[in-house]
Amino acid sequence: MIPRRGDNQTVLITGCSRGIGRAIAERFAAEGYHVIANDLDRQAGDLASLKAAIEAAGGRCDTLFADVSDPASVEALVSNALKLSPRIDVLVNNAGVLSVFNVEDIAPDEWDRIFDVNAKGTFLVTKALLAHFRANGKGRIVNIASVGGKRGAPGQAHYCASKAAVIRFSQILAQEVAPDGITVNSVCPGIIDTDMGRNNYPDEASLQAVKDKTALGRLGYPEDVVGAAAFFASDDAAFITGQALNVCGGILFD
Ligand SMILES: NC(=O)c1ccc[n+]([C@@H]2O[C@H](COP(=O)([O-])OP(=O)(O)OC[C@H]3O[C@@H](n4cnc5c(N)ncnc54)[C@H](O)[C@@H]3O)[C@@H](O)[C@H]2O)c1
Repeated sequence: MIPRRGDNQTVLITGCSRGIGRAIAERFAAEGYHVIANDLDRQAGDLASLKAAIEAAGGRCDTLFADVSDPASVEALVSNALKLSPRIDVLVNNAGVLSVFNVEDIAPDEWDRIFDVNAKGTFLVTKALLAHFRANGKGRIVNIASVGGKRGAPGQAHYCASKAAVIRFSQILAQEVAPDGITVNSVCPGIIDTDMGRNNYPDEASLQAVKDKTALGRLGYPEDVVGAAAFFASDDAAFITGQALNVCGGILFD
């Protein structure tokens, strides 16, 4: 059998019971990675169905519940993940939340909720795995940010600010950990057809407006995002770090 790029490697993916994370999990499993799939316990049904789908396709998947915004929960996640696999090669920080409010309507707690999952969650899970990656002399960290972290849209100031934080966090971390063979890159999806993405086009007119915004004239699908994540995780991207790649069908060009 031709070796696959994920053979004998393990990936931990957060928030991956559905949407973009689920597609990433299925792609990594198909590439041979042992997938450790995380989500909130309320997502137990979807997470079980992901595990069943990966195993039915001949892959390997374990599931762990944790809330990435909670430091104790993240410590338990990483220590349980390392019990399932003594070596973790790749971390994909995918868990995220969105809400839509103009700035004067963003409650302070809502600002915190969005930042706690998107920005602090990325920081916490990454921090918890850094010693492990350093000890291995290698690690791949792929953060799912957003084109919103570079430009963004009205009604999403809190979300876009949290994703800008993810992009800048990744750029600084990339410089800190490069000497230990660890790369850190961000994937910046445009508007993708998921439970979250549908907030951007509640009706037919806004769906058409979303399509018109992209050079390719269409919505993105979770499968459109997975190749960028798999690439950053692979040795093909060994000389790439601190980058933030738009996967948006041509909304942004820088
Ligand atoms: N869909 C889009 O248009 C789009 C665009 C740009 C970026 N993104 C980003 O892609 C990622 C995936 O989004 P999606 O569109 O698949 O959304 P989604 O809502 O379908 O999936 C998000 C997942 O994160 C999980 N999650 C939320 N809070 C969590 C927590 N505290 N701990 C662990 N898991 C948690 C959810 O349960 C869910 O399974 C997110 O980071 C999102 O911000 C999405």
